Amino acid sequence: MFRPMMPYIWVTMQSLFDPDGGMEALAPGAVLLRGQALAIDAELLAAIDAVVAKAPFRHMVTPGGFEMSVAMTNCGAAGWITDRKSYRYTTDDPESGRPWPAMPPVFRKLADAAAAKAGFPGFVPDACLINRYEPGTRLSPHQDRDEADFGHPIVSVSLGLPATFQFGGPRRADPLKKVALCHGDVVVWGGPARLAHHGVLTLKSGEHPMTGRRRFNLTLRKAL
Ligand code: SIN
Ligand code: FE2
Repeated sequence: MFRPMMPYIWVTMQSLFDPDGGMEALAPGAVLLRGQALAIDAELLAAIDAVVAKAPFRHMVTPGGFEMSVAMTNCGAAGWITDRKSYRYTTDDPESGRPWPAMPPVFRKLADAAAAKAGFPGFVPDACLINRYEPGTRLSPHQDRDEADFGHPIVSVSLGLPATFQFGGPRRADPLKKVALCHGDVVVWGGPARLAHHGVLTLKSGEHPMTGRRRFNLTLRKAL
């Protein structure tokens, strides 16, 4: 009599009590892994600090001449940049002329685990864009399409203040779903969702115990 109910009860209990249990589909090929990075949050934030000590956050300029409100830096063999010329990946930080700092192993491990959970096993990122949002900053909807091969997924990690993520489809006009992203959440998109438009609404004011008035986002890609 009760047996058919068991899987339902189990799933409900798991999402309530296991912070690493939630997996929500956003679209075919796109999933939100709730709390996937929570257990290693301090390690990730320490690794961000170490990268930033070598390659400080900066506000890049778009080819159209607009300064981005979100501050960015990179680590890995390649880093994503924008300037008056184009959006592209470079192997050197243009500010220092030196290679981008190495990708911390903890980033690579998390990306591999999250991608595998989402159905993309064997993901080996070579680029990590690190975004820093302060209240009032936003990232307008765009596609990640400067990578050489769209066969690899994107893994995106949220830390610090919560944000509203927008997730749409391959066409700019596709409707954007709003998704609340909190500290420790990881979103993975690939396959049919690889070229989905996505963005971040203006960050609301707040204070996070680990990051203060900031949100960090790591976007791990295979760029080269
Ligand atoms: C990005 O698209 O580069 C960042 C997404 C986010 O901050 O959640
Ligand atoms: Fe993006």
